[in-house]
Amino acid sequence: MAPLNFSVITIFPELFAPFREVGVFGRGIRSGLLSLDTINPRDFTTDNYHSVDDEPFGGGSGMVFTPLPLYKSIQKSKKSTDGPVIFLTPAGTPLTHQKVVSLSKLDGLTLLCGRYEGIDQRIVDLFVDEEISIGDYVLSGGEPAAIVLMDAIARQRPGIVKEADSVENDSFFDGLLDHPHYTRPAEFNKRKVPEVLLSGDHGKIARWRMKMKLVETLTKRPDLLLNASLTPEQKKMLTEIRNKLRKGK
Ligand code: 6GU
Repeated sequence: MAPLNFSVITIFPELFAPFREVGVFGRGIRSGLLSLDTINPRDFTTDNYHSVDDEPFGGGSGMVFTPLPLYKSIQKSKKSTDGPVIFLTPAGTPLTHQKVVSLSKLDGLTLLCGRYEGIDQRIVDLFVDEEISIGDYVLSGGEPAAIVLMDAIARQRPGIVKEADSVENDSFFDGLLDHPHYTRPAEFNKRKVPEVLLSGDHGKIARWRMKMKLVETLTKRPDLLLNASLTPEQKKMLTEIRNKLRKGK
């Protein structure tokens, strides 16, 4: 499979250097399954100060990212990278697992990181294919969001996460949160690992994990259950869990 090419437009390329080196993403780069290039809009400025921001028309506080260096950066990116131009902004569509999976099937993405109060709207109107947000709070710039997006996408590419089933067991893979995990020691601070995990009975363990996924989701994120497509067995378990919780109150 061709590598997935990320092209990030940012005035802080140094923020991406450590991300390239470490963990799952770093391994993906070293094994040629991913690439990550940065393009700095400051390289396309002509004034002595290399400025990329200017005062907003209409007045007001804060500065606006000026269009020409962004335009030139996008043109440069398009020469090396196929795929859509995504603008990271708190005004974008909130990111979901489904969106991550669909973006992971592409050969390339250009990620445009804003700074200041915003970027000139004509760049959005003319060159941006999609606007994505990573949650309802405001970051000082799109860079942390670009890293979040790339990390999530990279995990979904075949061959990047080693253990075949560790992506399939992730939270959200089946629309549910993950079950709790335990490792040695079997007792820690007087707390024992759930008995069933030591039983060696794989069927029983699988059912316990399934039940715990439902408990986790029901208690922490009940909203997810509205869209999860549950098997008949899961539906039965969920009813039992709900009845038990009701009696407990
Ligand atoms: Cl994508 N960018 C910024 N600047 N803030 C955000 C965001 C993105 N997503 C949530 N907050």
